[in-house]
Amino acid sequence: LLSHNFSSTSNNYAVQNISVYGSGLMGAGIVQVAAQYGFKVTMVDLNQEFIDRGKEIINASLKRVAKKQHKDDKAAQNALIEYTWSNIETDIDSVRGAEKADLIVEAIVENLQTKQNLFQQLDKVAKPNAIFASNTSSLPISEIAKATQRQDKFAGLHFFNPVPQMKLVEIIKTSQTSKETYKILNDVIMKMEKAPVICKDTPGFIVNRLLVPYLMESIRLVERGEASMKDVDTAMKLGAGMPMGPFELCDFVGLDTLKSIVDGWRKDGKIDANLVATSKILDDLVESGHLGRKSGKGFHKYV
Ligand code: CAA
Ligand code: NAD
Repeated sequence: LLSHNFSSTSNNYAVQNISVYGSGLMGAGIVQVAAQYGFKVTMVDLNQEFIDRGKEIINASLKRVAKKQHKDDKAAQNALIEYTWSNIETDIDSVRGAEKADLIVEAIVENLQTKQNLFQQLDKVAKPNAIFASNTSSLPISEIAKATQRQDKFAGLHFFNPVPQMKLVEIIKTSQTSKETYKILNDVIMKMEKAPVICKDTPGFIVNRLLVPYLMESIRLVERGEASMKDVDTAMKLGAGMPMGPFELCDFVGLDTLKSIVDGWRKDGKIDANLVATSKILDDLVESGHLGRKSGKGFHKYV
């Protein structure tokens, strides 16, 4: 699948330069994939330390991808790695980071006000035709877009973790997103050899709207004493063909992320509260700093 395309970027795509804000888990993944497929990418974060961490994420993941794609061919592996890095620049100045962009993808912290502040600032300095997209998991795209004067050029572009592996990208159209914007984003995703789906601006879009209630019900099932965590994981892997069991997936997504999604949706009141009812086990784990894989412990232990 992730076959490598060495062709130059001077083609019919409207988008050649992409700026990605946030060099965390998702931002770094988006930077990597965009660069791998020939876009010129600027990775922007608040300081050099965060940028360096983002570079490490890309480095580790890119080595994996290169090994998978070119098993016994070290030269081809190195060529893919070098080509990808040759398409990546970094910046810690958010204004300068936006200057060249035909498309800005935001993957910063999951906070409405913070995202609005960033987009409000970028709206003033980005090219008038630049398209803005948010990778938010759970916030309404239309609310984020309100911070700008370009709501027709604003959409959701929702990637999945781990970005280099997961083939899906949800494109979220608000009532203001233009057809042209949708078409350009669709082209960008196709060029990345990912599969786009389209969804209205509703809580959780498609995947999280179905996945999050499933994860929460798995936790409640164990909380009710009906089965063990280990057996629920085994059951869903072997009985429903899931690559990870729900508890493995909770740890993979991050328990703080999961909690913040369900807390937000309960407050929002747009979806059935029973589907996202609170869970004591989840709240307690987050409270004690056990956030899943990233902290070494969540429902499972990682050493
Ligand atoms: N870059 C980064 N991480 C990678 C990677 C890459 N290129 N390739 C694999 N990984 C990670 C995996 O998480 C795992 O970690 P460790 O080995 O370090 O413990 C490992 O690498 C597994 O890799 P394998 O190559 O052995 O496994 P695989 O390729 O067969 O499958 C998987 C890995 C694709 C993650 C698979 O297990 C899977 O599909 N799991 C479900 C993932 C999922 O559902 N993601 C969506 C989460 S929801 C979301 O993202 C939306 C949101 O808004 C919260
Ligand atoms: P993360 O915490 O790993 O990374 C966020 C990065 O954004 C940090 O490096 C931080 O320094 C940076 N940042 C914060 N404010 C910034 C600003 N104003 N300008 C530039 N950089 C800034 O977070 P993540 O897990 O990568 O998530 C990012 C976004 O993607 C969130 O909206 C999240 O909901 C969404 N998302 C997450 C997942 C997931 O599984 N983690 C999946 C899909 C979507």
